[in-house]
Amino acid sequence: MGAPVNRSPKTFRVKSFGCQMNVYDGERMAELLGAQGLSPAKGEDADLVVLNTCHIREKAAEKVYSDIGRLRREDGTRPLVAVAGCVAQAEGAEIHRRTKDVDIVVGPQAYHRLPELVAEAARGKRALDTDMPAASKFDVLPSRAKTVRPSAYLTVQEGCDKFCTYCVVPYTRGAEVSRPWSAIVDEAKALVDAGAREITLLGQNVNAWEHDGRYLHDLIEELAKLPRLARIRYTTSHPNDMRDGLIAAHRDIPKLMPFLHLPVQSGSDRILKAMNRSHSANSYLAILDRVREARPDIAISGDYIVGFPGETDQDFEATLQMVRRIGHSMAFSFKYSPRPGTPAASMPDQVAREVMDERLQRLQALIVEQQIAFNQRLVGRRTEVLLERPGKYPGQLIGKSPWLQSIVADGGAVGDLVEVDIVAAGPNSLTGVIPEILAA
Ligand code: SAH
Ligand code: SF4
Ligand code: F3S
Repeated sequence: MGAPVNRSPKTFRVKSFGCQMNVYDGERMAELLGAQGLSPAKGEDADLVVLNTCHIREKAAEKVYSDIGRLRREDGTRPLVAVAGCVAQAEGAEIHRRTKDVDIVVGPQAYHRLPELVAEAARGKRALDTDMPAASKFDVLPSRAKTVRPSAYLTVQEGCDKFCTYCVVPYTRGAEVSRPWSAIVDEAKALVDAGAREITLLGQNVNAWEHDGRYLHDLIEELAKLPRLARIRYTTSHPNDMRDGLIAAHRDIPKLMPFLHLPVQSGSDRILKAMNRSHSANSYLAILDRVREARPDIAISGDYIVGFPGETDQDFEATLQMVRRIGHSMAFSFKYSPRPGTPAASMPDQVAREVMDERLQRLQALIVEQQIAFNQRLVGRRTEVLLERPGKYPGQLIGKSPWLQSIVADGGAVGDLVEVDIVAAGPNSLTGVIPEILAA
């Protein structure tokens, strides 16, 4: 027996897990439900809860089922539950089979149909849509909210054709598709009108964006003309789509922030080949050389996987060596997680858990060391911060430096771009003092 459900929701909550693109999708779903007359609810008492899920690693995917369980209330009832995002796409109807506590399953390319699916669920039907229709959801989604945060996301590209052997994204998000130029420029204008000072262009392979012979750097150049837009970022890039024009944009467009997240995954050519990355350690480093020539102060971020099948101590040493050569401002590292349906999951020589644990610890220690060193270099310098949200204590605000470091400032207002003097730095944040306050 399932728990009793209120089938005519008046309030909703969207919880997003996973990458920035999921966060963006979550915002669009919230806007869509808002346009249907539902109001956002905080806390646990929303009538409709959308779990916007991530399938990238096993841990992320398994989390969904415990989250569903936790939605049951003390009185035995539960909200109407929708599972959206990449787990919905990957598992589809299997979710309905596995639990009675989900009413709607909706994939990342079908969430514009959420109102119809909610209506079906209201009639007691178990709703499902994981289609990847040819027509774009973006054409039917309502326009952007009237107010947005100072730093806004804008999805310009979706999907992936790269098929790295460990990765589910090509299956959950489908083939690479670029949104049209004018739709993106219009959405950027709407975001700026709604208060955005910074826009991060998003795509699973954002630098593969292409429309009518124009590329990502052309788009960045166009958006840089919006007077009230102060900062532009983009993520995530693939090394093989790092065009000359984009590298030059880091030199030529001041509003393009000096930050590049360019995952390499491993420093071993043997492993890169098994991963189907189609770049080598050296070709990756050569790209970074050119990027740094264009913009010497650029901060480099990356992603690493340890314990890919067949990874030896020697391969792992090559990854550490790679990280030492690069000198990251930050980087993400993960234990390899075998994903159903991917080629790597059935490769021989899967690496033992203890070996992965040990490698991850060593890699993360090195990355933290680099992160501290990078942050320390800013101490004693003045830098610009976009204040994004209130801090823990009254009068404190938290924002980002051009290099994407978190900075705790002692004044200003959300949405302000202020100059601060950096007085202290830790691994994860820096302390900034607004000079006027010092002088007073
Ligand atoms: N399109 C981006 C991001 C993909 S997902 C890119 O190519 O970089 C983000 C990161 O998750 C990847 O860069 C990779 O480091 C990690 N990842 C993907 N699949 C994984 C898996 N099966 N196990 C562990 N980490 C994984
Ligand atoms: Fe996954 Fe590779 Fe595509 Fe990135 S490039 S989304 S890691 S398949
Ligand atoms: Fe996760 Fe899907 Fe993003 S699997 S990382 S939410 S594209």
